[in-house]
Amino acid sequence: MLEKLFNLKGKTVIVTGGSRGIGETMVKALSEVGANVVVASRNIERCKDVVSSIEENGGNALAIELDVGSEESAKEMVQQTLDHFGSIDVLVNNAGISPFMSAIEKTKPSGFDKIMNINLRGALLCAQAVSEHMISKKSGKIINISSSSAAVPVKGIGVYAVSKTALIQLTKTLAFEWGKYNINVNSIAPGFMDAGVADLVQDLDGFFDDILHRTPLGRTGKATELIGTLLLLTSDASSYITGQTIFIDGGAGNC
Ligand SMILES: NC(=O)c1ccc[n+]([C@@H]2O[C@H](COP(=O)([O-])OP(=O)(O)OC[C@H]3O[C@@H](n4cnc5c(N)ncnc54)[C@H](OP(=O)(O)O)[C@@H]3O)[C@@H](O)[C@H]2O)c1
Repeated sequence: MLEKLFNLKGKTVIVTGGSRGIGETMVKALSEVGANVVVASRNIERCKDVVSSIEENGGNALAIELDVGSEESAKEMVQQTLDHFGSIDVLVNNAGISPFMSAIEKTKPSGFDKIMNINLRGALLCAQAVSEHMISKKSGKIINISSSSAAVPVKGIGVYAVSKTALIQLTKTLAFEWGKYNINVNSIAPGFMDAGVADLVQDLDGFFDDILHRTPLGRTGKATELIGTLLLLTSDASSYITGQTIFIDGGAGNC
């Protein structure tokens, strides 16, 4: 029974932003437990490199060029996935950006639009793009990658935090509206991880001290520490969980 609960063999999982950082860690882990994975991002060469490394380890993977800022691109990703694997079981909305640090009073409207366009609108477009297929087969799972900064304000990344908070509300809204189609929608909210967008962060105005001071476990996280929850939310083990956000942040968002 336990093996069946967490079994992803033959399931197809799309990970947007699977080309590097947290997304790359996720696609490799999902492949290790038997899922067919789609590695999608703007940099198709980098996606192909990740696919090659998965295939070298015996996995099934497909690289797709995707810009989550484009509705057409999101639809095309879904069509290519269906043409190749025949079905989509899980969408992980992981693509995200945190392109600058700025005090809120100095943040430009163009910066606000850029972040919202990818982190929030991009997740909605990809969810809408998979919805027709998931609704017609009356099953599916969507996992949105939010952030611990959705729970508590963090200096210098205010607009990013707002986008990730809105993503949690999008998660609840999709869960509420699509529950009747047997589609589970949940979020994972990582804290400060040792990968990806975190590399761009500068120690502005005591940023690191501030975060570590309010993290009970007293350290940053590793991308691999997201995998247990990812496997829970992608597998049958979470069949009665929807609309939830699981914080994987050493306690920073709740203390
Ligand atoms: N690292 C952390 O500490 C942390 C903490 C909390 C939440 N998160 C969230 O975790 C997710 C992954 O972050 P990361 O740290 O792994 O960042 P990362 O290394 O910068 O990776 C971001 C990924 O998103 C893709 N991407 C960016 N813009 C895109 C677009 N327009 N269309 C399609 N793909 C796009 C990138 O690929 P291309 O450039 O090839 O498009 C890349 O694969 C993000 O949503 C981030 O907000 C990260």
